[in-house]
Amino acid sequence: MSLLPKIKLLEEKHNKAELGGGQARIDKQHAAGRKTARERIEDLLDPGTFVETDKFVTHHCTDFGMEKNKILGDGVVTGYGKIDGRLMYVFAQDFTVFGGSLSRTNADKIIKVMDLAMKMGAPVIGLNDSGGARIQEGVESLAGYADIFYRNVRSSGVIPQISAVLGPCAGGAVYSPAITDFILMVKETSYMFVTGPDVIKTVTNEEVTMEDLGGAMTHNQTSGVAHFTAEDDEQAMMMIRELMSFLPSNNLEDPPRKVCTDDLEREEPSLDDVIPTDPNKPYNMMDIILPTIDDGHFLEVQPHFAKNIIVGFARIAGRPVGIVANQPAALAGVLDINSSVKAARFVRFCDAFNIPLVTFEDVPGFLPGTAQEFGGIIKHGAKLLYAFAEATVPKITIITRKAYGGAYDVMSSKHIGADYNFAYPTAEIAVMGPDGAVNIIYRNKLEDDEARKKAVSDYRENFASPYKAAELGYIDEIIFPHNTRKKLIQALEMTQNKSESNPPKKHGNIPL
Ligand code: HXC
Repeated sequence: MSLLPKIKLLEEKHNKAELGGGQARIDKQHAAGRKTARERIEDLLDPGTFVETDKFVTHHCTDFGMEKNKILGDGVVTGYGKIDGRLMYVFAQDFTVFGGSLSRTNADKIIKVMDLAMKMGAPVIGLNDSGGARIQEGVESLAGYADIFYRNVRSSGVIPQISAVLGPCAGGAVYSPAITDFILMVKETSYMFVTGPDVIKTVTNEEVTMEDLGGAMTHNQTSGVAHFTAEDDEQAMMMIRELMSFLPSNNLEDPPRKVCTDDLEREEPSLDDVIPTDPNKPYNMMDIILPTIDDGHFLEVQPHFAKNIIVGFARIAGRPVGIVANQPAALAGVLDINSSVKAARFVRFCDAFNIPLVTFEDVPGFLPGTAQEFGGIIKHGAKLLYAFAEATVPKITIITRKAYGGAYDVMSSKHIGADYNFAYPTAEIAVMGPDGAVNIIYRNKLEDDEARKKAVSDYRENFASPYKAAELGYIDEIIFPHNTRKKLIQALEMTQNKSESNPPKKHGNIPL
């Protein structure tokens, strides 16, 4: 008997599954400026590498006439493939099938790839576009969410987990992306919120649009929930590929090195002029970071949130590093609640995944004010201190200008475990700025403005320099700014076999 009809049947099933919720719904998805789950996966992975799992799964629901409405795949496309030749697991919610809503079987498909990813030590990328819990199913769907959350938590720090939000993501459904390492959102087509505009109107009488409440810019700029913004789905997938290029596949691997074509001996004369002679004048820390790293190529994380601190990925001599840098051009580079939390989370991510930390420091201290104190700057600032102190990856610090007060200690100082600490000759390392210091030391004791000016200048000369700290060995080297790249390359090479671990414990108690 010929096998042909059976082969035809398989072919038909494939075609049917690939059509998802049908052409009309695909057209609607496109008209809304969004791609389908399969199109997104195609953009994300190396061509021809995607292998789909559970393509023919259907739901088991028999309520609301659902037994007559089954669609192959059940609203999520799952499987594995490659990015730059490396194994990745993917799930992509298919909005054309029951609005991408999460059923029991749909959750089981996601769980299957999450479990495989943990066993194989490979990242999970979730492409979210869903109306939330499958309303026809109720608690089975809620159970599915919780099963996913549980795995998100267990996978945290073991394999990288990346979430793209490419459509709706509401209610409890937001908590899976929230637990993952990075959230990327697309402008104008994606939104995330725990309770939507209608519920808010009923409960608090506030009126807010979907976009203002939970759009890409809200979460990238205001709430700090998201880390990256893309213009459209295609760019979002390219950004995930780029992000993955800096990350190892799991916490036992080192991040992937690239062949470095940028000159390892390159000196950068422009760096000798970046720090203004007036210590109160701002400058852009990017003018130091970009000429120092390979090819000026920097993937900034959360560029729109808490701009007074810069975090992101770069390569130095081909080796991925995580950069943390105060930004004097925003709020004078002060540490406040948002910048502390932003940087602390980034430091912990880098530490979990063996990515060395390079810290550029120019910080006048913590932001004063009741808003900060009432908001808990004590515990939030402590997060950054805790994160740096706990990190066992190579830690290298360069003080470019101000390193004042507690902020000096916090920003990866020698005392909390940094491996090598540089300072520029323009560094000012002291308990506080000269003006503040003179006000306290000479309170009511200075006769006139002239005497005050002299006291400030004396203090600056004696204390607000890197030399006291260098005498004490708190700074390992005072360097010419034009040598920053060479010096960082040397220090990173020196630390490349670093092996350090924290005392055994169940887990620490970071001040949450
Ligand atoms: C089943 C759903 C669905 C859902 C959408 N659909 N959401 N089916 N369960 N949760 C279906 C629709 O019936 C429709 O089917 C198709 O998906 C597209 O939906 P539309 O409404 O036509 O699309 P759009 O106008 O773009 O609106 C999208 C939407 C809206 C804003 C997401 O669909 C919506 O409000 N859905 C309900 C959201 C919700 O309340 N979810 C539960 C949240 S609670 P047809 O056949 O017409 O194409 C939750 C708890 C999680 O998620 C808890 C975890 C702990």
